[in-house]
Amino acid sequence: MKVDFEKIFKEFEEDISRIKDLKSFKEVKDKYLSKEKGLITSLLKKIKEIPREEKPQFGKNVNILKGKITGKLEELKEKVELLELESRAKEESVDITLPGLDLPVGSHHPIKIVEKEICEIFERMGYFIAEGPEIETDFNNFEALNFPDDHPARDAQDTFFISEDKYYLLRTHTSPVQIRTMKKYGTPIKIIAPGKVFRRDTPDPTHSPIFHQIEGLVVDKNITMADLKGTLEKFARECFSEDTRIRLRPSFFPFVEPGAEVDISCIFCKGKGCRICKNSGWIEILGAGMVHPAVFEKCDIDPETYSGFAFGLGVDRIAILKYGIPDIRLFFENDVRFLRQF
Ligand code: DAH
Repeated sequence: MKVDFEKIFKEFEEDISRIKDLKSFKEVKDKYLSKEKGLITSLLKKIKEIPREEKPQFGKNVNILKGKITGKLEELKEKVELLELESRAKEESVDITLPGLDLPVGSHHPIKIVEKEICEIFERMGYFIAEGPEIETDFNNFEALNFPDDHPARDAQDTFFISEDKYYLLRTHTSPVQIRTMKKYGTPIKIIAPGKVFRRDTPDPTHSPIFHQIEGLVVDKNITMADLKGTLEKFARECFSEDTRIRLRPSFFPFVEPGAEVDISCIFCKGKGCRICKNSGWIEILGAGMVHPAVFEKCDIDPETYSGFAFGLGVDRIAILKYGIPDIRLFFENDVRFLRQF
């Protein structure tokens, strides 16, 4: 049996000249070098049929052929891979001159819009923004704010306690930020502190166990109730409209003396009386007062030298008024049909 090694190699060279991608490369490689069906393997199998004295030469020739084929294919492999990469890059390339696709964007939550608006009004008056944690201690939330031990707000009915000993709780108002700020920075102070607060309330159109407040605190020498009134008047005009008036009604909060509830003239009927203001012409929006000397003492501030005012306003209530929202629960359901309107 005669095998023409040169002819095989010529055929191989023709085969590789037609290689244009990894697929055709692999086909050629298999045709010659596959362990099961490759040409080299079948040549080696033929060695049985070769006359004894020709076997060594035949074996040598097969090995030379295998070496040449393997060498060529190795050389080619790199080129083919490069080609493949180039064609893929071409296929997958992006036309950067095309107009971009619009990504869907969300909107700000109405509570956040109103919170930001209110903060900006106070920032323009020179206030800094302070923050406190939502998990508070009994000391900051109640004790330092002069709440007596048996105050009903401390009851488990109103407060979410989160430790057995009732030491840790979810803050029921933003007033503990007053304590934190006075203890940390001393005097003078001019801050507002926005944030979430928590109370054990059954949800209904006007109640939610989570809601939002903004606390204000100003401490310095010679701060008076007149400063408080002027500040809140300015705030009401900026937040609602130039013709909005305010009214202070005496009220009690343990951490202020005197304390007041503050109303704005009804923004719907301008004070004439309507359904929203229940015909009173006034709408309550915040609590305020002069910082109680006992609170100063808990924070190591001398009440003989310093005085201050504080206020706390309900953000949800103001958002409800501004946007005419019928139910506080809408703020927390996060239905996009509601949220998209802002
Ligand atoms: N913390 C009070 C509340 O949640 C609101 C409040 C009243 C805050 C009077 C004050 C204040 O700073 O002076 O009901």
